[in-house]
Amino acid sequence: MKIKSPQRFKDADAFRNRWQEIDPQLDLDDTVDSPGILGSSLEKGGWSLSNRFAVQPMEGWDAHRDGTPSEETLRRWHRFGESGAALVWGGEAFAVAEEGRANPHQLFHRDSAQSCRTLESLREALLAGKRMIGDEAPSRSVVGLQLTHSGRWSRPTTSGPSPRTAFEHPILDARVGASADQLLSDEELELIGERYIEAAICAQMAGFDFIDIKACHGYLLHELLSARTRPGRYGGDLEGRSRMLRDLISGVREAAPGLGIAVRLSVTDVIPFRRSDDGEGVPDWPADENYDHGFGVDPANPLKPHWDEPLQLISMLQQQGIEWINLTIGSPYWCPHRQRPAQYPPSDGYEPPEDPLVGVASHIQAARTVRSHFPQLGIVGTGWTYLQEWLPAVAQHEVRKGFQDVVGLGRSMLSYPELPRDIIHGRTMPKKRVCRTFSDCTTAPRNGLISGCFPLDEHYKSHPAAAELKSVKASARQIAREGENH
Ligand SMILES: Cc1cc2nc3c(=O)[nH]c(=O)nc-3n(C[C@H](O)[C@H](O)[C@H](O)COP(=O)(O)O)c2cc1C
Ligand code: SF4
Repeated sequence: MKIKSPQRFKDADAFRNRWQEIDPQLDLDDTVDSPGILGSSLEKGGWSLSNRFAVQPMEGWDAHRDGTPSEETLRRWHRFGESGAALVWGGEAFAVAEEGRANPHQLFHRDSAQSCRTLESLREALLAGKRMIGDEAPSRSVVGLQLTHSGRWSRPTTSGPSPRTAFEHPILDARVGASADQLLSDEELELIGERYIEAAICAQMAGFDFIDIKACHGYLLHELLSARTRPGRYGGDLEGRSRMLRDLISGVREAAPGLGIAVRLSVTDVIPFRRSDDGEGVPDWPADENYDHGFGVDPANPLKPHWDEPLQLISMLQQQGIEWINLTIGSPYWCPHRQRPAQYPPSDGYEPPEDPLVGVASHIQAARTVRSHFPQLGIVGTGWTYLQEWLPAVAQHEVRKGFQDVVGLGRSMLSYPELPRDIIHGRTMPKKRVCRTFSDCTTAPRNGLISGCFPLDEHYKSHPAAAELKSVKASARQIAREGENH
């Protein structure tokens, strides 16, 4: 598919034409104000934010094997602090148990003493980054920690996947080598739940304002939401499938009174995709069969969202006192083109099956849908990075119209953490810092290397892992060429 990169649209009208071809309801502002609405404050759901930017959680696959942060981990948190974003949503996924890590270099909760020290050091790195930018730092930042168990996508050692699943999945089981033996029992889920509570207490002791109970991207609490075929307390209807998430909210509230609780939710999804013979992504499911194994997916047309259950779930969460939700879509494991729209796929991915702007639009439309049903809910939107030069004008439009409260930035925070400050202060974005969605930050960890912005961040350009990444990419290209010639 021929893709016109956002940087190639010569002016706002040219971009608007393409944007409205995707959906006539989409738009952008012609000029970006400084400080403007993106630099404006917001009091909502117990949080006091001095601007409308959030750093999204992003792991680096760079913690020590004992779960403590390395210099690289601390550098990333320092840079998140330097961004000047008023909200730091989670920092990165912190596994509540060693065996629930998605990679052997993920931070994890070993015991309370170690977690408290680790979390204090991460928060201190962030605050040091904030101090470095002096007057441009928000007077107060709201900082959360994302808690996770990787479930099906657990890979705690270098010997490959070690999945623990919520239900048997007709496509994804084969991708991780799972069978009925890997199903988590109700008792095991309850023990995992206890670890969430312990980790949340540590986060509070270390000074975090809130915890994010991660229910997205295919990890355990997200997978449970689609466990229709699971018998017992944690499966079946939406009440059962959301029970663990809801129990955790009440459990944390009781064990750590005063600690904020928020949820990052994959609010809609699509069918899993796979790489076709010509390299492009295609649905991995027969076109004439219903697909009942997703959350927020239309079973009859699994390329489209289905909103009934996501809206019911958000309403249940709101009734439990959840006032902020971070909306994301799908999973980087089965639909990376939607979860993190990119021009260039990671080495284990596929060529985009659609203009990545369609993926960005689906994130923006999701936030609008949720906003229209829950006007009081605090909403952080996702999927912004691919917009590149048009990010500020589209973001200003969406926030000005009240479609989302806070613009959550992922990959752009790796290549160019000063982005929020530059937008707020009306400074031009340096072209060489803007993330062009090369996907190296995903390719590297998929091949056992640390993650980072290898093409644009000087620190990683000269890192020993850069040479290894180059050779991994060369062999991936070779394998892809051979596949296409067969
Ligand atoms: C290297 C990398 C690590 C990530 N780690 C996490 C994570 O720990 N938790 C999470 O919820 N999302 C994670 N994400 C997803 C991002 O938070 C974000 O949803 C995604 O990059 C899309 O936003 P963007 O278009 O601004 O990059 C990660 C993404 C990348 C590229
Ligand atoms: S490696 Fe850098 S440029 Fe590439 S997608 Fe990641 S952040 Fe963007």
